[in-house]
Amino acid sequence: MPLSDRLGRPLHDLRLSVIEACNFRCGYCMPADRVPDGHGFDAAGRMDFDEIETLVRAFARLGVRKLRLTGGEPLLRRDLPALVARLARIPGIDDLALTTNGSLLARHAQALRAAGLHRITISLDALDPARFHALSGGRGRIADVLAGIEAAEAAGFGVLRLNCVVQRGVNEDQVLPLVERFRYSGHVLRFIEYMDVGTCNGWRMDRVVPSAELCARIHARWPLRALEPRYRGEVAARHAFVDGGGEIGFVSSVSAPFCGDCNRARVAADGAFYGCLFAGAGRPLRPLLAHGEDRLMAEIRALWMHRADRYSELRGSTGHSPRQRVEMFLVGG
Ligand code: GTP
Ligand code: 5AD
Ligand code: SF4
Ligand code: SF4
Repeated sequence: MPLSDRLGRPLHDLRLSVIEACNFRCGYCMPADRVPDGHGFDAAGRMDFDEIETLVRAFARLGVRKLRLTGGEPLLRRDLPALVARLARIPGIDDLALTTNGSLLARHAQALRAAGLHRITISLDALDPARFHALSGGRGRIADVLAGIEAAEAAGFGVLRLNCVVQRGVNEDQVLPLVERFRYSGHVLRFIEYMDVGTCNGWRMDRVVPSAELCARIHARWPLRALEPRYRGEVAARHAFVDGGGEIGFVSSVSAPFCGDCNRARVAADGAFYGCLFAGAGRPLRPLLAHGEDRLMAEIRALWMHRADRYSELRGSTGHSPRQRVEMFLVGG
């Protein structure tokens, strides 16, 4: 019997954070005035590679086919390619992806490819150098990210996903320049609605630019047509440029929540399990790792069977807003 949660959703994706630290301070995730430099667990607070491998094996035996490594910034984790090589060999893991801010990618792309990483998603909120720098909390340089994109191309990663979180009055003017820059590039730019994740970004509904509005704006300049989802539960709604310029996507978690198909488990770098991006306290899995895969599988099975999270749908209908919420940099989006 395939495992399913209380709302009938299977367990299919695992999003695993390998580190909670980041070299950026994006305002929507870990604003510099709330998250000081040097924040994070000490190294002993994180699962080691043996523990991570055991954990992923257990999830794969329970049906997980898609694994995404996240952070914080995952390329800050020492020897990440060695971990990728171990995870790429696990039976059942058909899709192994990484989400990164791209700043350190130029120096790691080749090794990640050689280790067996399949896909890379890069966060990219602006093209203008000064704006990019400001959005990263004064830490990042767009030139480094563009060099990371080139290195990923050269390493043979093929189609990259480029994720842009759009905030009204903050970077919405970057949308058309980004589209222009990446049309015909072979990569897929995706616009993400700004979400009320975590506890420190001071989210306001009037900062959200609904995907429908953005889509209309882009369509007016470069006509688009909607594409069918490739699989049930695909997070981004896909559109193609009518002139053959490629594809873009929209992730509309505020204006059109997709909890009904949410098949994603999340585990933080310390081994805490979260059933939702908006969950409160995580369930520590690390203490169970010493007891082996079977014990761990029993716990994950129980957690998944009890899962009933659908925060984004409830936000819309009831204004529901729990006070305790995991920080985005612990579960990596
Ligand atoms: P692909 O397989 O490459 O399409 O990746 P994906 O569909 O897993 O999407 P990705 O990891 O690029 O997610 C893009 C963004 O969508 C994330 O950074 C989040 O901001 C948001 N997102 C992804 N999954 C969820 C989810 O389960 N709930 C909510 N509310 N937002 C999500
Ligand atoms: N709203 C939407 N997406 C967010 N991310 C982080 N914080 C937010 C937020 N408040 C996502 C972005 C980023 C990834 C690491 O996490 O997509 O690229
Ligand atoms: Fe770092 Fe990504 Fe969070 Fe930005 S969104 S602060 S790059 S973890
Ligand atoms: Fe899944 Fe929670 Fe996002 Fe809904 S809000 S799609 S349940 S992670």
